[in-house]
Amino acid sequence: MIAAASSPGKVILFGEHFVVYGAPAIVSAINRRARVIVQPRGDEAIQVVSDLGIAGIFDEDRFKRISGGNSARKGLEPVKIAARAVIEELDIRTGLNITVRSEIPVAVGLGSSGAVAVATVSAVGRLLGKTFTRDDIFRLSFEPERFVHKDPSGIDQTISTFGGTIRYERDKGITDLGVIHSLPLVIGNTGILRSTGDLVAMVRGFRDEDPERFQRLLIRARQISENAVEALHRNDLERLGQLMNQNQELLDAIGASHKALDKAIEAARESGALGAKLTGAGGGGCMIALAPPGETKSIAKSIAPIVEPISVEVTKKGVISWLKA
Ligand code: PMV
Repeated sequence: MIAAASSPGKVILFGEHFVVYGAPAIVSAINRRARVIVQPRGDEAIQVVSDLGIAGIFDEDRFKRISGGNSARKGLEPVKIAARAVIEELDIRTGLNITVRSEIPVAVGLGSSGAVAVATVSAVGRLLGKTFTRDDIFRLSFEPERFVHKDPSGIDQTISTFGGTIRYERDKGITDLGVIHSLPLVIGNTGILRSTGDLVAMVRGFRDEDPERFQRLLIRARQISENAVEALHRNDLERLGQLMNQNQELLDAIGASHKALDKAIEAARESGALGAKLTGAGGGGCMIALAPPGETKSIAKSIAPIVEPISVEVTKKGVISWLKA
């Protein structure tokens, strides 16, 4: 018996970082997916093989590396944590062979770890005879996400689970915005890897140093996200672009931007993008630009000397899982 699951990566359109402090964020699932395949094994060990070129076996507290460098364990651990969370939830004794393949670039803000966590939970559940509800998948994926990001808001595993475009508010959950006008988005990847956990901690430092200033920025961030919900419903691209630019000012103010991001954002705006901002935790990683309709190619061309343009579509499809004989 084999079970498999796939789930999407994401772009945060509005509200990253501020979402950790209770502001709403708006996030879309994208048509780049992580796929996880699971098989049972005779012992109680968990073997994880990733297409990142790392592989190893977790057997109780021991880790045996099969391939990859010294960071193999750190890269594979979240998959093991996700699988163990399911095994414990279902109270079943089993070992697993897990294979992970992903089309989502790692550590650049496109939700790779969240998608892998969600697909792992879903596939292991399937294998063990349980089709989890989306709420269960969200809850069980929190543990691996905490391992990777320290204090995440939960936005990544939420969008990977549900798909579509949603408004996410920590502690209040989600509203499916139901808007799938295909937004003319262009992603630019700086290729600069960074840790979401470190950036969230950096923003926490900013807040602790100047709580009043942070509070003012947080109020503006909340307003921007609320205005963006309305603009999305009206499919008002001009307004969305303006709001993205305003959101970028706030992200810059809290120190989340990066020179390479700033350059690409400026290039996109100069070549006619309606708005541009970083997406995800920043500090490197990716930016997004909203192109006028039909202009995604020219915007992509304008940023290509600075960042790698990635073309994506928003997708409604959240996590899916299936059994193979
Ligand atoms: O992991 P990233 O780069 O997609 O960042 C997630 C968004 C943050 O708001 C920075 C963190 C969080 O947990 O919400």
